[in-house]
Amino acid sequence: MPLTPESGYARRDYVDRISSQEKLYAEINQLFGTDPRPAEESDFKKLPYLDQVIRETLRLFTIIPAIPRQIENDTQIGAHLYPKDTILIVNIAGIHHNPKLYPEPYKFSPDNFTPEAVSKRHRHSSIPFGAGPRNCIGKEFTQLMMKLSLVALLRTFSFHTSIKLEDIKLKPGPVETISGGYPIKIKLRDEGARH
Ligand code: HEM
Repeated sequence: MPLTPESGYARRDYVDRISSQEKLYAEINQLFGTDPRPAEESDFKKLPYLDQVIRETLRLFTIIPAIPRQIENDTQIGAHLYPKDTILIVNIAGIHHNPKLYPEPYKFSPDNFTPEAVSKRHRHSSIPFGAGPRNCIGKEFTQLMMKLSLVALLRTFSFHTSIKLEDIKLKPGPVETISGGYPIKIKLRDEGARH
């Protein structure tokens, strides 16, 4: 992934990621307090930052980088006329890393998904699950599972890594995965801080 190797960038990036984790933990902690009940779907509208973190993760690491579409009619896009039956490739990863949409496209920044930031962009500026009538049928299920797992894990553990975002290598393919693994340290949160 072509991240800018600026001096100080990696450290800032690490600090940003840790502060996002703690901001998310604080949001979760504020909702549940000392109540040990597990999270349920109705909780998620009270956890806006959780939604932002997940949407930003799916933007930065676009699991399905491109999808094909065969067009039914002659179609004009910008200066180009594409004849009926042409197969076009929608470059989802390209959209997700377009600096006109995301000024620092290779930085992890959940603020890209505040309601205000979202309202300023085209509604198809973030399409990790595709779009239209053939979009992913697992979209809602996947997001629910990600939210349930993240809340459950962050209530008990904190996550640490010395890997910089710029060192993460992606294996190109129809489904993008991380090459060479991604070692992390998992620490149990203090009993006092854990609910
Ligand atoms: C993070 C996880 C996932 C991502 C990023 C993802 C992404 C996508 C994308 C980009 C498409 C193509 C949509 C399009 O052409 O507009 C798709 C299609 C599809 N996905 Fe997912 N998906 C995920 C998880 C799942 C899960 C968990 C299921 C099943 C429970 C699932 C079932 C499907 C099916 C059946 C299609 C084909 C839909 C069709 O052609 O009508 N996906 N997914």
